[in-house]
Amino acid sequence: MIIAANLKTNLTRKQTRLYVNELETYIKQNNIKQDILVFPATSSLDIHSGKVVLGAQNAYPTQNGAFTGEIGLDQLEEFLIKTVLIGHSERRHVLGESQDELVKKFNYYKDLGFKIIYCVGEPLEKREAGKEEMMKYIASQYEGIDTSYENLIIAYEPVWAIGTGLTPTLEDIELIHTDLKEKSHAPLLYGGSVKVTNAKEVLELKNVDGILVGSAALYSEHFCTMIQFAQDISQ
Ligand code: PGA
Repeated sequence: MIIAANLKTNLTRKQTRLYVNELETYIKQNNIKQDILVFPATSSLDIHSGKVVLGAQNAYPTQNGAFTGEIGLDQLEEFLIKTVLIGHSERRHVLGESQDELVKKFNYYKDLGFKIIYCVGEPLEKREAGKEEMMKYIASQYEGIDTSYENLIIAYEPVWAIGTGLTPTLEDIELIHTDLKEKSHAPLLYGGSVKVTNAKEVLELKNVDGILVGSAALYSEHFCTMIQFAQDISQ
């Protein structure tokens, strides 16, 4: 299974190093065989060798250049980063990234062979508009995306569930994941208010290949508990 932590704009470089080292210790001591991804703040990116794979939360589709506030391939290569998150709901809805911009990023990093975690998910008004509207909206987030890309992982994250403590029912998650699996056979993660108290049930669902965790992943003990759930379920 794939267990991913999105640290967003949290933890300093020093705290992140400590955090990743704590994960490595746990992984080693408990012989964890799952894929563990961590997306630290840009300033905490670093060369890391171990079981944990570090990825960028965002990157601009360029080697380098005049793109104030962004990072490009040169900056990722400095730290041997080969994994990138694209289309997170905060990039789409808070920072206003369009589908066209996301497709450009996707194609650029796909051509370089990056592992891409591509996020999709509906805002509350689309969910409340009914299943058909909601699935139409999510389908629009697949437009222009090569769903058969071999290094693709998709994360389904309902916007209204992110950081709110709200989640769809387990039945809903399973139904939506089953629908989304028809669009792509890529591993499919669930994200949105996953925590120690619900991670196990979510991981046990059919067509859930892992989780993408924000707030609850900030504590290494909590994140390690979730890693352990995945390990136990996979055995
Ligand atoms: P959350 O965030 O776990 O805090 O809801 C998930 C995410 O944004 O990926």
